[in-house]
Amino acid sequence: MLIRPRRTRTNQAIRSLVSESRVTVDDLIQPLFVMEGKSVKTPIKSMPGQYRFSLDYLLEEIQTLKNLGIKAISLFPVIDEKFKTTDAREAYNPNGLNQRAVKAIKDRFPEMLVMTDIALDPYNRDGHDGLVDAKSGKILNDQTLEVLNQMALVQAQAGSDILGPSDMMDGRVLSLRQTLESNSFQDVMIMSYSAKYASAFYGPFREALDSAPKSGDKKTYQMDFSNAREAVREALLDQEEGADILMVKPGLSYLDVVYQCKQASHLPIAVYNVSGEYAMVMAAAEKGWVDADKIMLETLTAFKRAGADIILTYFAKAMAERLHRL
Ligand code: PBG
Repeated sequence: MLIRPRRTRTNQAIRSLVSESRVTVDDLIQPLFVMEGKSVKTPIKSMPGQYRFSLDYLLEEIQTLKNLGIKAISLFPVIDEKFKTTDAREAYNPNGLNQRAVKAIKDRFPEMLVMTDIALDPYNRDGHDGLVDAKSGKILNDQTLEVLNQMALVQAQAGSDILGPSDMMDGRVLSLRQTLESNSFQDVMIMSYSAKYASAFYGPFREALDSAPKSGDKKTYQMDFSNAREAVREALLDQEEGADILMVKPGLSYLDVVYQCKQASHLPIAVYNVSGEYAMVMAAAEKGWVDADKIMLETLTAFKRAGADIILTYFAKAMAERLHRL
């Protein structure tokens, strides 16, 4: 035999030398849930190790993340039922929970990158990402864009570094980019949830925010999981409309989509390792059926191998801790 691929697997030193993909703390964004109140931290049942934090505890958590070398967080507000309306007006309240949290985080940690979500679901009584027509039940695309623009403005004013439109309305990236440009927020980035699939993997997240749609599903705006070429089309559209970073979501079942988007665009590609993916690993680990730490490393490395530059993951903190231990 001339060729023995096992030679470069002989020991850890040579394996490290030939290793093609590696996850570093620089690649990670930690999603965090913020709620009203003082000194409260309520566990999210379906996401062991994840919490809804009141703002004071959230700041403590961010200090811990910062000490671990994490440089970016993505914020999701738990909105009180009494603020949920059919016009989702709380979404653009300059003093709303999300905006107060962003201000507080940026005041205390100016160098921490804060990403905020652009979609109506936490604020919409119907639980949908867009406005719902009362008569037909249809999700109204262009009317929703107006609300998203307002949302973008209050978030940018609060100090958000990256807007994450996760609503999948047509034309939203252009609409947001124009709004930012014409209001002197030209430096605010847009990480577009370009290829966001209608997925059962968001279940635990909707529990965390109590944001599940009250009727119907999200299939008229989120993508059909059968499609990959359509994802590339969405990604290229967002690129043309002025997105800075393109995202694929969920992650593990969509590595082919990550790969294809990476080939199709020169923009950085992000992937969202979503709540259901996290929940499955943690549930199996609690039963003693898998090793959560090893699965985390294998999963996150797979995202890098597929071409992701950035990973949004509930494992960010645990992964950073692991990297420190090594
Ligand atoms: C809201 C939003 C969702 C997630 C991120 N932003 C849920 C949804 O679209 O229903 C899911 C994140 C996760 O499951 O971890 N537009």
